[in-house]
Amino acid sequence: MELLINGQKLEAGRLENRLLVYVLRDQLGLTGTRLGCGAGFCGSCTVWLDGVPVRSCVTPASEAAGRAITTIEGLAGTYPAAELHPVQQAFLEAQVPQCGWCMSGQIMTAAAFVNANPAPSDEEILTAMEKNLCRCGTYHRIKQAVRRAAELARAQA
Ligand code: FES
Ligand code: FES
Repeated sequence: MELLINGQKLEAGRLENRLLVYVLRDQLGLTGTRLGCGAGFCGSCTVWLDGVPVRSCVTPASEAAGRAITTIEGLAGTYPAAELHPVQQAFLEAQVPQCGWCMSGQIMTAAAFVNANPAPSDEEILTAMEKNLCRCGTYHRIKQAVRRAAELARAQA
């Protein structure tokens, strides 16, 4: 079956009884989406369905059929005002990643948040990001980068 991923229709094979993260990574080679806990707790597998973040490790692939899937590989293309999404730019500037494993999930979560709220308070940033875990403890830099991303988004609006 075809899935619409990052604006392209891709043949994903049979979707029944398969979780979206495995279809993306194993079937389609989109390994930017990371598998962490595999149980919906850590957020490292976050992608968007119709612009809304979901945890692909607990999302049946069949739920994604007929919807627009966005992964980290396609995020920059969602933001025509700049080469990168402001969240990507801000994470680079702040050198947020340590091991990097959680980062695509952090960025996909933060990008949806900044798109919806380009003038967030620090408390709103913490609330938006608190369910994305980082074993390396980069939380302080994540908060700084999301704040900076919101500034960039406002400047580019
Ligand atoms: S790998 Fe999906 S939430 Fe942890
Ligand atoms: S940067 Fe290592 S888990 Fe977050």
